[in-house]
Amino acid sequence: MITMDRRNQPQHRPQHPNANHHDNHQSTFKRDVDDSGGGHFQHKRFRAGHQRHRQAGPSTPPSSPPNQSLSVQRQLYERDFPLYKQPVEVGHFSLDSERRFFNDDRQLRYYVEPEKSCPNFNLRDGYRDRFIKRDDGVKEKLDHILRWILANRSKLQSKEVAASSSPCALGVNVVTWRGHLTKLLTTPYETQEGWLLAVTRMGGTLYISEVETEAARRDQEDRTERHEEMMYWGYKFEQYTCADDAHSLPDPGGVVNTNEAFCTVVQTRLAEHRLLFSGEVDCRDKDPKAPPPPACYIEMKTSLEISTPKQRSNFHRFKLLKWWAQSFLPGVPRIVAGFRDHDGVVVSVETFHISKISQLIKNETNCWKPTVCMNFCCDFLSFVKSIVTEDNPREVHLFSWEPHRDVTYSIHRDSQYSFLPDWYIREMTSPASREIHHHHPPQT
Ligand code: A3P
Ligand code: MG
Repeated sequence: MITMDRRNQPQHRPQHPNANHHDNHQSTFKRDVDDSGGGHFQHKRFRAGHQRHRQAGPSTPPSSPPNQSLSVQRQLYERDFPLYKQPVEVGHFSLDSERRFFNDDRQLRYYVEPEKSCPNFNLRDGYRDRFIKRDDGVKEKLDHILRWILANRSKLQSKEVAASSSPCALGVNVVTWRGHLTKLLTTPYETQEGWLLAVTRMGGTLYISEVETEAARRDQEDRTERHEEMMYWGYKFEQYTCADDAHSLPDPGGVVNTNEAFCTVVQTRLAEHRLLFSGEVDCRDKDPKAPPPPACYIEMKTSLEISTPKQRSNFHRFKLLKWWAQSFLPGVPRIVAGFRDHDGVVVSVETFHISKISQLIKNETNCWKPTVCMNFCCDFLSFVKSIVTEDNPREVHLFSWEPHRDVTYSIHRDSQYSFLPDWYIREMTSPASREIHHHHPPQT
């Protein structure tokens, strides 16, 4: 779990069975919101329930109607840090140069420290002639994670069934991408970009998959040539610092292909929510004596070099928030940052320890707080759980948020938003597969 220590630094802690993880918890859901606004509430059952339970008090018995929106105001989330169990890697997978799935670590790379503190890497090199860009028009949704789940299901379930800690088939409450959770963590501080998250409940597990917003689609279409090129720079930095195996060197003369990925799959718990999520990992420590994953993983980043106090402050307030959220979630302890000039030349390299970031930002006025990020994410998941009660792979609750607004939702059946593929639904619901994977005696 994670609690704030005396210096107010969030720390992962191993789980303690009697841990009190809900100190000082106050629900931040909003009650009795006007459900006619925005055309967002189409939940017939809610309307009926609302009539029946109009007198429900603030302590919210289980039969009460769920709240219809969730506030994002920061001050509502300034309470004790919630329990966040040390994330455990339960598996990993690789996507090759053609984006094919492999249930192994063939794409894992090894960090090679630059020889000089001022390495002079030219991030523009190869953009025109040695760059294969993943087709971001192909929406993969949760497919790779679902493939991983099917390939590793017996392993996942046998552990959970043995612990008999969860009534749901998979033994987890939430399946999603790390990147979606990162967006949730940073939501209380986000003023530019909203999000849409599609949620489906199947076998007692909530699956959360992002839907591209109209604004994001427009931004993508309107990208300038300079912006397109700058998106390549981060991958190029990885190529300068990562090798294919522990004993080789990086190959900056090779092709950068953004189809390739190594993804870790971790399990953890945020308060009462058992989470299974996957995220791309840039590389690992090449020392074989390094701690086991995810503690040996390293996140690579690039950023404009900092030359003024204002730039430093902005780096702390905006960039470190995103960096922290992304790596804290899967328990990746280190970020190696390449600071570059305007021409894409890396002029310095610096390591950031995730556990020290909250110290680093503490003198900034009006700065972000890890506890607000984690409490918001936790309350969002509770909100989703209270709303998405029907177990139906074809139903989607679309949760929607725009800056300066509350989170709201709409309901869709057999729509463009359905995202669980038939091959997954079939495999997870067929009686034959349940027998195999649950070790149930055959039905007669
Ligand atoms: P930087 O990390 O140096 O920004 P990640 O850091 O998550 O491993 O992503 C690798 C690189 O992908 C980024 O490098 C950046 O170049 C590109 N990238 C990722 N997300 C992006 C986004 N939302 N917009 C633009 N570029 C992005
Ligand atoms: Mg990176």
